[in-house]
Amino acid sequence: MKIGTVFAITTLGLLVSVHAMAQKTLAEATKGKFLFGVAVNMQQVNGVSPIESELIAKEFSTIVAENCMKPQPTHPEENKFNWEDADKFVAFGEKNKQVVTGHCLIWHSQIGRWMFVDSTGKDVSPEVLKERMRKHIYAVVGRYKGRVKGWDVVNEAFEDNGSYRKSKFYQILGKDFIKYAFQYAHEADPNAELYYNDYNVESPTKCDGIVQMVKELKAAGCRIDAVGSQSHMHINTPSVAATETSFKKLKDAGVHILITEWDISILPSPYDGANISMNFKYSKEMDPYRDGVPDSVQQKWNKRVLDMFELFLKYNDVIDRVTVWGLSDTGTWLNGFPIRGRKDYPVLFDRNNQRKSVVDDMIKLTKKY
Ligand code: G3I
Repeated sequence: MKIGTVFAITTLGLLVSVHAMAQKTLAEATKGKFLFGVAVNMQQVNGVSPIESELIAKEFSTIVAENCMKPQPTHPEENKFNWEDADKFVAFGEKNKQVVTGHCLIWHSQIGRWMFVDSTGKDVSPEVLKERMRKHIYAVVGRYKGRVKGWDVVNEAFEDNGSYRKSKFYQILGKDFIKYAFQYAHEADPNAELYYNDYNVESPTKCDGIVQMVKELKAAGCRIDAVGSQSHMHINTPSVAATETSFKKLKDAGVHILITEWDISILPSPYDGANISMNFKYSKEMDPYRDGVPDSVQQKWNKRVLDMFELFLKYNDVIDRVTVWGLSDTGTWLNGFPIRGRKDYPVLFDRNNQRKSVVDDMIKLTKKY
């Protein structure tokens, strides 16, 4: 065969394989390592933006509801349930043959105040709160029994220093509210996986508190399959090393790990002492990338994504799922938190619903593990 022909065939082959890789989805690339998912809002479930709904169906192997399955939306009053959105969400995932995760059953936020008070507005007794928790969990988990792979049973019960958040659940029931929640969820669907979910799990003190809780739940005979590390990260923190340390601690505690709400903000944080602005009022100084992201910042963000994704791949023996908290920069919660009206760029699709270049680099990286 002439040299020219060999060269032409080789070049064509290369072009095809590069094109094929460029078309490969993250779900396909991570198959056999962990599920790769996205948090979904109701506009996407209802097809208000068809391109977004199609991207979600094509690119991801699992979905979680950003809001519609939380206590307030599903159970706004003691004797009133709203199932419409949650039903549509679960059906959306099933139609696209995706694994559906439930978020979240017990949380101090986005929950009806009725859960904790009697008709006079006073705190209810421990027994009444336990029964209300049981009814809520039985109703939600029971409705989707066999259709939801696993549940964020309790969300954000710890402070960063490792102490329990003094939520109403804690004030009335002590830390046992967590044990009751896992027990009720297991009774409602014995085959569902059960998770504890929190942010800043990379904080050594918070991770130690969570590990101790895991041990106590296991000692009490509760099913707990995994700890969800929300992974709401910043371009500067947490370090890969601190993140890896948390993975090692959780692995040693005998639970799997889920990356449940991954995003990486590039915006200055009002919490960061380095910022002169310690208030949460909007200012141009706190919203520096309204007109776009400088290449140097983009490259730094890309590296953060790849460094963390490589760590996830390294621990894919215990990491069962990686979920990004939102499809595109347009809909990210970070455009409005902790300061309203900013423009952040924390997830994998841009404001034109285009995959960012880092996704192809992520796909290449999967070949190493
Ligand atoms: O649905 C109502 C709508 O009817 C109303 O008109 C509108 C204006 O008040 O509010 C809408 O509800 C908002 C909801 O998002 C849906 O858009 C709530 O006000 C708003 O507080 C809620 O924010 C969500 C936030 O949790 C608060 O619970 C964010 O979208 C969601 O991304 C965020 O997700 C949490 C995880 O569940 C737990 N981990 C932290 C993460 C980020 O805070």
